[in-house]
Amino acid sequence: MKLNYNLLNKIEKLIGDSWYIIDIEKFRTNFYEFYDAFTLIYPKIKIAYSYKTNYIPALCKIINNEGGYAEVVSEMEYDLAIKVGVNPENIIVNGPYKPEKSLEKYLTKGSIVNLDNYSEFILLKKIASKYPGKVFNLGVRCNFELNDTPLSRFGFDTSKESFFQIVEELKNIKNIRFNMIHCHFPYRDLKVYEEKVNRMLDIYERVVDYNEPFYIDLGGGLGGKLDDKIKQQLGYTVADYQDYANIIATKFQDNFSQSYYKPILILEPGTALVANTMQYVCKVIEIKTIKDKHIAITSGSKINYHRLTTKLNLPLSVYSIDTNKTKRNYYDAIDISGYTCIEDDYLYKNYSGELCIGDYLVFDNVGSYSIVFKPPFIFPNVPIIALRNDGFDILKEAETFEYIFQTYNFE
Ligand SMILES: Cc1ncc(COP(=O)(O)O)c(C=O)c1O
Repeated sequence: MKLNYNLLNKIEKLIGDSWYIIDIEKFRTNFYEFYDAFTLIYPKIKIAYSYKTNYIPALCKIINNEGGYAEVVSEMEYDLAIKVGVNPENIIVNGPYKPEKSLEKYLTKGSIVNLDNYSEFILLKKIASKYPGKVFNLGVRCNFELNDTPLSRFGFDTSKESFFQIVEELKNIKNIRFNMIHCHFPYRDLKVYEEKVNRMLDIYERVVDYNEPFYIDLGGGLGGKLDDKIKQQLGYTVADYQDYANIIATKFQDNFSQSYYKPILILEPGTALVANTMQYVCKVIEIKTIKDKHIAITSGSKINYHRLTTKLNLPLSVYSIDTNKTKRNYYDAIDISGYTCIEDDYLYKNYSGELCIGDYLVFDNVGSYSIVFKPPFIFPNVPIIALRNDGFDILKEAETFEYIFQTYNFE
């Protein structure tokens, strides 16, 4: 359904003056397009959606229904995957901290666990010896240096021989199936991605035994579909799904076209699939002038969709209360501010256009690391809705005083 002032006004009357809109079908389309871009070049691919990026259950369900895997990093996310119906064997567990009880649960249910560090390796051996009749699926997270990027703190240092000794030890444990190498780096640059693929293929050659299906998991870090207005602000060339596929899947295809054993390529996109599927709506409450600066106060905040660290202005559409323009003013560089008491809580700096108290503001591209990072700072979080042709569904209710304070002891 296309947005307009009357629709937004109707929604406000039902759920309050700020909310998120998720486009579930856009997410599904992104999944297909992403999958197709890779699979047409290298067919042995699995997509494991990164729950931490945006774990709205409806999104997690789509991935599961379309044959994707879940990528999780905590028991909370793991339980969500189980709750939305994911087969434990289709869950990949990453992350630098896996408490013993959680690790035991992941392993005994049959999920694939990527070890991050030596203590986990010790714990794993303990759990494996407790369940001699069960086979556990295991991978290791690989750490290596990439040109012009900071040192990563995750995984095993693959420049050390001790990494390969641990892998050998893993392979020698009877009830362990060592079947994955994993890495994740957050850099979206294609050159960095190419280097990462090469490094992982080198590691693969050193560790693989060619007797099991083997997974090479390159993690996430792939860019999403971006509006031109964001691209202009970024200052670097933004790669699309096909660009990534041309680098990654082509490398796999070239490398393994003659091999009998072809590893399964895993990617763990979060941002790439979800960033453009969500919008954030709030309302202009007041427009004031301090010295020469015009400032709009809104019912929203940047903390609703970002941790305030970015200076990016996200694509903004204004839905005007007054279409005959009698009450409207044109502003040359008005700052649109948030409800928090943080000085730099600006949703948009130097907006040029008409604006009026009562207008709705709709920000695009807020699907990635938005709701999962929203703290109950000053206001509880707002509802998430999905539009239908004849109305909307509420996918998450507004958080309330009771919800936020239920875990505090008032005595
Ligand atoms: C292990 C792992 N996989 C996948 C992702 C998703 O990354 P992105 O949102 O860049 O696709 C992350 C993000 O931190 C991650 O840590």
